[in-house]
Amino acid sequence: MRHEALAAVRRGPEPATELNRQTDSARLQHVIESPQFTVPMLMELFDRSRGMERVVARGGTLDYQNKILATLFYEPSTRTRFSFEAAMHRLGGRVLSTEHASAFSSEIEGEQVEDSIRIIGNYADVIVIRHHQEGGAARAAEVSPVPVINAGDGDGGQHPTQALLDLYTIYRERPLDGLSVAIIGELDKGRTARSLAYLLAKFERIKIFFVSPPELQMKPDILEYLDEHDVNYELEPDLMRVIGEVDVVYQTRIRPERVGDAELLRRYAINSAVLPHMKLSAMILHPLPRTVELDKLVDGDPRALYFRQAANGLYVRMALLTMLLDKD
Ligand code: CP
Repeated sequence: MRHEALAAVRRGPEPATELNRQTDSARLQHVIESPQFTVPMLMELFDRSRGMERVVARGGTLDYQNKILATLFYEPSTRTRFSFEAAMHRLGGRVLSTEHASAFSSEIEGEQVEDSIRIIGNYADVIVIRHHQEGGAARAAEVSPVPVINAGDGDGGQHPTQALLDLYTIYRERPLDGLSVAIIGELDKGRTARSLAYLLAKFERIKIFFVSPPELQMKPDILEYLDEHDVNYELEPDLMRVIGEVDVVYQTRIRPERVGDAELLRRYAINSAVLPHMKLSAMILHPLPRTVELDKLVDGDPRALYFRQAANGLYVRMALLTMLLDKD
């Protein structure tokens, strides 16, 4: 069954609690990398996320009042940490948090992440971790007695929950099959871009343009995955060659220190000069935070969906927490 049809079947009447419990969640133990999601799992997550929009609109639920979320962030975050913590509060649960784990956890005394997780896993029902080393979340999951969610690992790892909310934002607007997407920015180390590419590969007739200076292009691991899954993609250094033909403009940052050339940065920016070249039906997404690559003048354009995208993070993360916690 095609995934849209599957989704339509699943979008039937909501149960009284609106907290759908379906079997695909049973296969979700930890959330470390986006390829682990199947299309049915994504559709279940999106169905639950729709339900969470209604749960939040009425103030939340107490269904998870006995559950505790721990957030362990070794790197800064605004959206991911706040939305996960808000998600647990809206579900009725409680939150343990250290927002600067490198300084305020025992890592400063040399404790390895494995030991921290073994301990925190005794106090919480689910752990969200942003680790400064690629593979940090996977190391945590290996020893954790409770589900671990990767909120971003290292410089060039993954950020799967960002990709889930990115995809949900697109899905709320149009079918995912047949999408043409420009993923722009510092792609070799862009963990949101990397996770999104893996998820897009799960759908039919996808075309991805990776738009980046050649030295910052997407790494071979992703390109090999796309080849194996017969996904159509192109590596493109020139934004203006593709901006007019894509349905989704997924902008990400380029750190100035990686290019050392302000003019080069401007060539990859979305601004009022670029907007007239885009499809009227296109969507502009950005995981945020932004700097010069996304001009504030774009905010008033109806195609700018990045603040709604960030808002969707709450619903998707609520839904994801329920999929991990509905095992009892
Ligand atoms: N998109 C994202 O991960 O934002 P934060 O760094 O604010 O969590």
